[in-house]
Amino acid sequence: MDWYSWHDGYDGPSGGRLQVVQTQIDAALATMTESPIRVISICAGQGHDIVGSLQRFDRRRDVEALLVELDERNVEAARRRIADASLTGIRLKAADAGVTDVYKGMVPADLILACGVFGSLTDQDIDRTVGLLPTLSSPNAQVVWTANRAAPGLWDTALTAFDRHGFREVWTTDRAEERFGIGRHRLTTQPRPFEPGMQMFSFADEDTLVRIGRIST
Ligand SMILES: C[S@@+](CC[C@H](N)C(=O)[O-])C[C@H]1O[C@@H](n2cnc3c(N)ncnc32)[C@H](O)[C@@H]1O
Repeated sequence: MDWYSWHDGYDGPSGGRLQVVQTQIDAALATMTESPIRVISICAGQGHDIVGSLQRFDRRRDVEALLVELDERNVEAARRRIADASLTGIRLKAADAGVTDVYKGMVPADLILACGVFGSLTDQDIDRTVGLLPTLSSPNAQVVWTANRAAPGLWDTALTAFDRHGFREVWTTDRAEERFGIGRHRLTTQPRPFEPGMQMFSFADEDTLVRIGRIST
């Protein structure tokens, strides 16, 4: 997968997904009274979602965000997007978002974005990742996440993981929505202490993704 050109989809069919994600980010930010509001984006891509939401968020100067993305081309595109939007308070790291160390100094977070991540992970890694989110979370932290409903089992695996690990649903896309799946969950258990050095996930290789039905050939 070319993760740079993947973002071209936002000019076409994926534009609808982006709007819904941004609406959920807006809704999450609107509930947050603390300052600073800490946001981390896991596999942030070119930052379309959080940049769009922060541009229209009145309290954007209260937000400290960390965007973690492996592909340098996407990091550069995100850097340009942030500059064009005149946003301050957003840091970018070109790094592996799957290892907890990368979030050191930016957690506990009030809002965690995990968009476009679960579809590239095995079920075990989805469960492991969601299981470690409470170590990155502040009390009542919210997670905005996506999982394609067309990939067999993916949506239910993600929902089950949130349920198992102390999160409760705030909002999810309707079951009839077939183009994409988006969720917003809130941590209802106590956060756990940050654990550096934990591997949350690695993107699975293409053969594995085909075998487990995430993508078709
Ligand atoms: C499907 S895109 C989603 C991008 C963004 N979150 C969005 O929804 O617009 C997945 C992104 O994950 C990045 N990625 C893949 N493996 C990663 C890793 N281990 N750490 C950080 N980013 C990674 C890819 O480069 C790609 O930009």
